[in-house]
Amino acid sequence: MNLRFSFIFLWAILTVGCSENAVTENPEDPEPYTALRSVAPFPVGVAIQSSRLGSGPHSGVVRTVFNSVTAEYEMKMKHLTSASGSYVWTHADQLVAFANEHDMQVHGHALVWHQSTPSWLENFSGTDMEFEDAVKDYITTVVQRYQDDVVSWDVINEAFEDGSGELRNSVFRRRMGPDFIARLFQYTREADPDVLLFYNDYGTIWDTAKLESMLAMVDDLQARGIPIDGVGLQMHITYTHPPLSNIVAVMDAVVQRGLKIHISEMDVRVNPQGDLSVLTDERSQLQKKRVNEIVAAFMDLPEENQFAITWWGLRDPESWLIDFWGNPEWGLLFDAEYQPKPAYEGFLEALRGN
Ligand code: G3I
Repeated sequence: MNLRFSFIFLWAILTVGCSENAVTENPEDPEPYTALRSVAPFPVGVAIQSSRLGSGPHSGVVRTVFNSVTAEYEMKMKHLTSASGSYVWTHADQLVAFANEHDMQVHGHALVWHQSTPSWLENFSGTDMEFEDAVKDYITTVVQRYQDDVVSWDVINEAFEDGSGELRNSVFRRRMGPDFIARLFQYTREADPDVLLFYNDYGTIWDTAKLESMLAMVDDLQARGIPIDGVGLQMHITYTHPPLSNIVAVMDAVVQRGLKIHISEMDVRVNPQGDLSVLTDERSQLQKKRVNEIVAAFMDLPEENQFAITWWGLRDPESWLIDFWGNPEWGLLFDAEYQPKPAYEGFLEALRGN
């Protein structure tokens, strides 16, 4: 059966032929694999892009396997607003409509991120007060548009420098002052009394200074009664690094503060040294073991602290990792042919306690 026909056949099976709990791995294979959403006691998510939705196998696997979505980029400021007070909702609306159609929750990513600041705001010519009013207006407009759809927002993403843990010298820091993060959380809460408010970052599981800065920020917000509900640990890791003990210690520190944990952007690099040109079974099995140990650690958390596990993409070839690191990479749960990899089985085994 040629590849194109098997794609179409797979899509057909996914769309019309399988029960909610089972996904047929391959048209000829009577043994379906189990959908993560039907086993996990918490939402299992995936980062998506509107251009990949529609009627193809991509959306078929996404809506069958997962029950949470995060916009990989289309709900960021640079993509939602092109000028002060002017918005482009089309793609974000498509993602939200897809999620609503398939009983999936939406995690909002991200209200403020120094890497996705539109030029009109980066080069804002008004006063600092007018700058802050524009930011507050943006947050209020976006959060209230999706108030019935988005359960949680990354209020701010990646606010601390690698290595030093200093606040990044972003335009938000410069124009709103060093206490700007507190006000971003306050503005988001004022916009929606129920949405969950997260701080999201990478590296807090290996960079001590960044971790300490994040925890100090959480402690300060909590001491001042400023609302924060959770922490996103992005979990962009490799098959060996960082040690599981680091990850568990950080999760424990967050749990001690009574916050929810979102493993928010998981991928597991198997070629960090660039020694592979094809994915070997050996490295694939090591990736499976890695996924299994991290999902098992997440399963050990108190239920009230388990927000979700979200993968930063569906299929290996679609991952940001490839362009960013410049190596061949296979960091996700599905291969190029939408087939679940051993890592997927590792995820399921952890969910089942084995
Ligand atoms: O698809 C459009 C294309 O139609 C358009 O012509 C082109 C020109 O603008 O843009 C294309 O979209 C790009 C998109 O990736 C899809 O490739 C965006 O420009 C580009 O900005 C976007 O990059 C995303 C990046 O964040 C910046 O938003 C990556 O997909 C995404 O994986 C990455 O994700 C970040 C998290 O948000 C935060 N943590 C780190 C993570 C990796 O950098």
